[in-house]
Amino acid sequence: SLDLQGMRRRMTVHFGKLMNLFDRVIDKRLQLRKTNDYISTNDFLDTLLNISEDKNEELDRNLIKHLLLDLFTAGTETTSSTFEWVMAELPHNPKVLQEAQRELKQIIGAGNSVEESGIACLPYLQAFVKETLRLHPPVPLLLPRKTEADYEIHNFILPKGAQLLVNTWAVSRDPNFWEEPDLFLPERFIGSEMDVRGRDFGLIPFGGGRRICPGLPLALKMLHLMLGRLLHSFDWELEDGVTPESLNMEDKYGLVLHKAQPLKAIAISL
Ligand code: HEM
Repeated sequence: SLDLQGMRRRMTVHFGKLMNLFDRVIDKRLQLRKTNDYISTNDFLDTLLNISEDKNEELDRNLIKHLLLDLFTAGTETTSSTFEWVMAELPHNPKVLQEAQRELKQIIGAGNSVEESGIACLPYLQAFVKETLRLHPPVPLLLPRKTEADYEIHNFILPKGAQLLVNTWAVSRDPNFWEEPDLFLPERFIGSEMDVRGRDFGLIPFGGGRRICPGLPLALKMLHLMLGRLLHSFDWELEDGVTPESLNMEDKYGLVLHKAQPLKAIAISL
């Protein structure tokens, strides 16, 4: 078939580079495992290599490389794009920035660093991440699904074999469900049990059910930790001539939902 935008050609080049990288990482690890003083940390790669040594016909090197490719592509752009939105919503909403920093100062304290264990004690920071994922879900249509049988939902017939796209972007801006859906208000999650882990269907940026994002725990940890640290140690300002109101917050649809105009923010050490 045709590849008019050259997308497939470019993807083949990029994926090829990644596969070479994985080959090098695997080779290096295999070498290391042969040395006598190697102590396994049982990380992801060691675990896969152990399985492969036991049952090579079930998990060969090619499968390991494709598994790594899946995780790499699914986990990098989603997290980095969410983080760009987080960092854009801060200077766009100076009061939110102040409140998040006030919470960090009060609970973590000046001079202490934000650690994974401290995140549970930072409700505002968590609310901030939820609100960002509500307004800017990086995978706006989740992953496609197919019906196994005929279904009827709200008088719509879904025939067996139909491809279904769940528009989580629209759900998390539905005015019948959300008050002031277009406003960035982390406060809406304070004191609320609502969460992004696939139980509350109004907010499913990681999807739900058996296909739910397996990287969810890692992604949430990374987002909270990076954000907490950057807010606790730095103040954030926009470049000259850009005000909170004039900052371009449009999104651009692609495989992952991006900021249409990349963010430029200035860090000031606290
Ligand atoms: C903010 C970060 C992330 C967001 C918003 C996100 C979102 C999603 C969504 C919406 C899906 C489809 C779920 C569905 O259709 O029900 C998905 C699938 C997936 N995600 Fe994530 N993800 C993130 C980070 C990660 C990370 C860090 C990893 C791995 C290290 C990862 C690995 C995967 C994989 C492998 C799948 C495919 C699962 C399957 O179809 O069985 N994701 N993710």
